[in-house]
Amino acid sequence: MSKTGITFDYISEYLHSVRAERSGWIAEKEKVWRESGYPIAEPEVGDLIEIICALKKPKRILEIGTCVGFSALLMSQSSPEADIVTIERNPVMIKEAKINFDMYDTNKHIKLLEGDAADILPGIDSEFDLVFLDAAKGQYPVYFQEIKRMLDSGGIFISDNVLFNGFVAQGAPDRHRNKTIVMRLDEYLKMLEADPEFKTVLLPISDGVTLSIKK
Ligand SMILES: C[S@@+](CC[C@H](N)C(=O)[O-])C[C@H]1O[C@@H](n2cnc3c(N)ncnc32)[C@H](O)[C@@H]1O
Repeated sequence: MSKTGITFDYISEYLHSVRAERSGWIAEKEKVWRESGYPIAEPEVGDLIEIICALKKPKRILEIGTCVGFSALLMSQSSPEADIVTIERNPVMIKEAKINFDMYDTNKHIKLLEGDAADILPGIDSEFDLVFLDAAKGQYPVYFQEIKRMLDSGGIFISDNVLFNGFVAQGAPDRHRNKTIVMRLDEYLKMLEADPEFKTVLLPISDGVTLSIKK
């Protein structure tokens, strides 16, 4: 099994062997952040984000879960026209993300909101045409209700780590905390798939990614 437990090793190894590396400063920073152990999006999730940005050409992007700013900077680079709002609660990540945005968000298109997404989201009344959800997995059902409210018709919604190391499909988590996260992710995926306002595909890449369009 692959490290996330949702694909076979030989498939993951093959995909990684043929994947074209990113280039430029973001590729160099991505390598450093990954090697430093920051939980940034997996390379193929970054590729998906880049493709969606190129197709959608979003004007307003919301990200929940900034970490050190990798995916926000990738979206900013792929969508130079877009304004990006990104939310992070961990002070260590906030400090690092601010340094990275100061250095690499040269057009100052990224706005970092500091705090818990559960507190911040209800206070946002803007509309977005792309949302990337990559934060506390147990809160995905709650965040989805807020995202639904803020996403334009025709807007794209991506959520990451939805299979949680394959546990969601196995339904057999080991510890209590995992059990709650697995139950909530299962609830979230069923809610998203069944929502008549959305068309969704669940992609078994990385740790499981959903790609949805709001009709
Ligand atoms: C997987 S990382 C995000 C990676 C980032 N999207 C990237 O690819 O560069 C998840 C981040 O979400 C943050 N986070 C988790 N729960 C949160 C919450 N309730 N509110 C705000 N941030 C949260 C964590 O501190 C962590 O930095």
